[in-house]
Order: sequence, then C-alpha cells, then structure tokens
Amino acid sequence: CGIVGYIGNQDAKEILLRGLEKLEYRGYDSAGIAIANGNGVHLYKEKGRIADLRKTVDENEAGTAGIGHTRWATHGPPSQENAHPHQSETHRFTLVHNGVIENYESLQREYLNGVHFTSDTDTEIIVQLIERFVRDGLEVEEAFRKTLSLLKGSYATALIDKENTDTIYVGKNKSPLLVGKGDDVNVIASDAMAMLQVTNEFIELMDEEIVIVTREAITIKTLTGEKIERKSYIAELDASDIEKGTYPHYMLKEIDEQPLVIRNIISKYQKENGEIKLDEDIRKAMQAADRIYIIAAGTSYHAGLVGKQLIESIAKKPVETHIASEFLYNMPLVSEKPLFIFISQSGETADSRGVLVNVKKLGYPALTITNVPGSTLSREADFTLHTYAGPEIAVASTKAYTAQMAVLAILAVDTAKARGLTLDFDPIKELSIVGTVMETLCDQKEALEKIAREYLSVTRNCFFIGRASDYYVGLEGALKLKEISYIQAEGFAGGELKHGTIALIEEGTPVIALATQKHVNLSIRGNVKEVAARGANPCIISLEGLNADNDAFVLPKVHDYLTPLVAVIPLQLISYYAALHRGCDVDKPRNLAKSVTVE
Ligand code: G6P
Repeated sequence: CGIVGYIGNQDAKEILLRGLEKLEYRGYDSAGIAIANGNGVHLYKEKGRIADLRKTVDENEAGTAGIGHTRWATHGPPSQENAHPHQSETHRFTLVHNGVIENYESLQREYLNGVHFTSDTDTEIIVQLIERFVRDGLEVEEAFRKTLSLLKGSYATALIDKENTDTIYVGKNKSPLLVGKGDDVNVIASDAMAMLQVTNEFIELMDEEIVIVTREAITIKTLTGEKIERKSYIAELDASDIEKGTYPHYMLKEIDEQPLVIRNIISKYQKENGEIKLDEDIRKAMQAADRIYIIAAGTSYHAGLVGKQLIESIAKKPVETHIASEFLYNMPLVSEKPLFIFISQSGETADSRGVLVNVKKLGYPALTITNVPGSTLSREADFTLHTYAGPEIAVASTKAYTAQMAVLAILAVDTAKARGLTLDFDPIKELSIVGTVMETLCDQKEALEKIAREYLSVTRNCFFIGRASDYYVGLEGALKLKEISYIQAEGFAGGELKHGTIALIEEGTPVIALATQKHVNLSIRGNVKEVAARGANPCIISLEGLNADNDAFVLPKVHDYLTPLVAVIPLQLISYYAALHRGCDVDKPRNLAKSVTVE
C-alpha cells in the first residue's frame, strides 16, 4: 500500500522506517525493508505493525540505500512470506510493488517454468522475470523495462540489484509514485509526506515511465528507453500538519479541525467583494452539461449523494451519483452532454480512476473534487476543485467529507447564479454559521461519549435511519461506526424499514434516527415508534425547532441545505468513542486502507 526508497549518505534503515510510519495511515497489514551495503542486501519483513518490524531490524545495519514497503493484502494472506520486499531465486534482485498484476499467472507459465516461488503474491513474478531476462543476457535496465512492458495491471515498483547497490530502478503505471530530490541524496515515495524528512522537492512520474535513481542523478525514461525531462516541484506540505500534537488520535484531531476547514474553504472560494471565486472554465462546463454524473467511493460517495441533492435543488440540474466500482463495469446510458464529477479525498482511488480513464476515452469533460491537488485524479481530469481540508491521516474520513459537501454547495450556488436563477441562500454566510455550529458540537464530546457508552458498549449491531438528506448522513454514520468499531452498522431509509429490515430489530437493538428535515419529521418519528414497538432502543438526533422530548441530542439550527455538514459530527464522535470503548485501533482499523489504489 505504500513504498519508500532512499539512496544517499545517511542511515537508510531509520529514514525508511520513519517514512513507512508516515505511510501507516494508508492502512496495511505487513511491512518490510531491504537495506543495501557493501556486503549485499539485507531483508527484514514482518506481519503486523511497523513497530513490530522495527524490533527485528539489526541496530548495526549500516547501509545508505534501501527500499521499504507496507502491504495491504490482495493476493495471499498477510504473512511474513507475502510481505515485501520480494527476492528473485538467486537473491540477486530485491523488489517492492504496489498494485495488482493481472496476468501474473500466464507470465509465470510462459517464462518461469521451474522457477521456485516463495510467496503467494502477484508481485514475485516481477522480480523473477527480471532475473530471468538478465540471465538471458539483458542489461538490468533493459530487463526491468522489458518486464514492465509485459505486465498488465497497475504497479508502482522499486528494484535493487545486489551487484550494483548504487542504483534504485523505479517504475510506475496507474499506482502513485514520486521521486524526491535532495542534496547528494534522492528518495522515492508513494506520498510526499513519507519523505518530507529528507526533502520537499519532488518529481511526478507518469504512467509507463521508469526512473533510474542514484545518489547524484534522477533519469526518467519511457519503457522503450527514451529519456524524458521533467521539472521538479516543491510540495507545499507543512510537516506539523501531519503530526497529531496533543491529540490521542488523528481522527479526533481531524473531527475538531472541521470548523477551521469550513472557514478555510470560505476564504479560498470568496472574492474580496464577497462573490464566489471559481475557475471560469468550471463554470462553463457546469453550464454546458445537460446532466451531471458524480462518481466516488466510500465516504466520498456519501458526500456525492448530498451533492446530488444540493446541485438539483439549488442549481436545478439533473445529477446522478454512482459508486465508482459499479459504474466501471456497469455503465448506464449517459446523456448527450454529460459532465463527470469525481469526488475523492486522496485523488488516487483506483475504482474512480478506472472510470475517469473510460470517460476521457469517450471524450467527456471531467472535474475532480479532491483534497490532494497533484493527485492522479486531479492531473487527469480537465478541472480540479480543491477541498482545502489539510492532510487527513485517520483512515476513517471526517473533515474531508464535510469539506467535499461545502465545496459542492458552493459549486451548486455558483451554477445557479450563472444560470440566472434567483436564490435566497448565501453559501458564504450559511457556511460561516455551519463553522460556528460545528465548534459547538465539537465542544459536546462528553454528551456524545455518554451516548456511545449507553447505546453501543455491548451491542453487536446498530441501525441508522433517516429520510431525505438524513438518510445519506445515516449511511455515512453507519460507515464510520463499522469502519472503526467493527459493530455491524447499516444505514436505512426510514420508509424502507417496513419492507424487510425491521425483521432484524430485537430487544435492545440500538437505532440511531436522524430528524433534521422538517418535511419528513413526522414520518421519521413514526418510523422510530415502529422500531421501538418491536423492542429497539432508539436514539434520536434532531434539529432545534424540530426536536421533541426525550431526543438524545439536539443540533443547533443551520440552513436546510447544509444540515448534513453538522448532523454528521455527532455521528463521527459517537463512532469514535464507541471504537475507543471497545479498545479498537481508531486511526488504523483492521483490513482497511486509506487510499485504495487497487480495483
Ligand atoms: C477507502 C477509505 C475510505 C474512503 C474511500 C474513498 O476505502 O478507507 O475512507 O472513503 O477509500 O477514498 P477517496 O480518497 O477516493 O475519497
């Protein structure tokens, strides 16, 4: 799930381990490093955490070059054997890889009969092929290029050769990878954050490129060997943004940052005269579209559902929101002039990128809303809107989600204005109120911790119900809870309960109901009665003005369009405390990755 590499004049093991720690947030289940020195290449790998790996590394390991990897299992279970780096049969070559090689079985049959494999991974094929082609007489670089050109699928990969430890060979296709430039030292990383400890000057790589990295030089080439020149850029990341300071968890810090993020978005999208600041080309693309298709995964998909509602009700344009992985293989009939909007915190989700590649082939325009402007989805779309949430480290997304919805609200209003619609909704003013309300909510942690204790400390499952936008927020609440506390949680549309789900209600089943929407307030409260009559333990979260006696929590009033931005905050905090009470690893939940770069 993450790659690092270092070639310079300092202790490589420490830099690689620290780099891997910075990538921990992406999620992984095993890790490893390979250190090269005059005596060869030493391999350390371990199932579990970087802290476990650290314990196995020889303190006196003194190499000044090496590669490292965190793995999120795809082919073969998490184990020491399947952890990277992997080595070729004679141990001459050592390699790390992110991504999925789709044709590894046919390559193995065609080229590697009789070669002994030591892991279940698709990765091992790469390093074994390189050795095979070198044995056949190719130079290492040629063998590397030939191997990569045979691969189908995605890869970010780095190779070291025991017989020439002054070079790291790097390749990329569809998976993110950067090369960092220092003074007499060069590095590689899946994410700039991992190597900010060495440099903030990076070079982007494009698909099907290789790089030959030495201490002194970075040489980019195509798979056919032609040299490519590319300028470096300075990563504008503040190292303190990625520290958790006095917070026990990144997730809590990120929940608390939401008011600040909303204010930041207001300032970035506002002109001095108070009007919305937006790229003219995006405005034109929104106008030209006869229908908008929002494509996303996970939490970003939930923001997309709210986005549909915002754009349809404010800008009166039809919108469909789709799960990226479904759209990829089951594309609906699209309208004549579609505009595709990709929502992605990381900008790297492979499912979304797969759709973007198809959309571009079909010649349709695409806009990416992301928290990482230099990311793949941002680079490959025609336009980008930045969510300015700052690095989000906890696997469970919080501030990126509210930021996405805030940007979607601004986009909806801008589109409405450009169409000449009259509006009685000032997004800047209303978002400022949201910021203030978010602050109040973040100050009510004790009350929310109590709710978590009361409703969720022993339960096996939990349901979230809501209608209209509360349904979408319920989906997100359920996702948060299941991601980090492992309580089986599902979000349902209030009216749909009676068509099946209500069969699951047992004595004491917690049902968290959202009641922030005036036009469905009575009906959602009716649904609460239905579940309560069957033994459920309902917890109603309502909005000031719509509240009733015995509601567990009441949200201060914000504009109707923006209730999802505040209604989600108690759900984030309840999930956080539920996970904490159960002793779960809040920031790094099992089996999950922050940025899923495999389809
Ligand atoms: C992963 C993460 C989720 C995230 C989803 C989409 O599954 O665990 O938290 O919502 O990817 O990520 P994106 O970066 O595209 O928003």
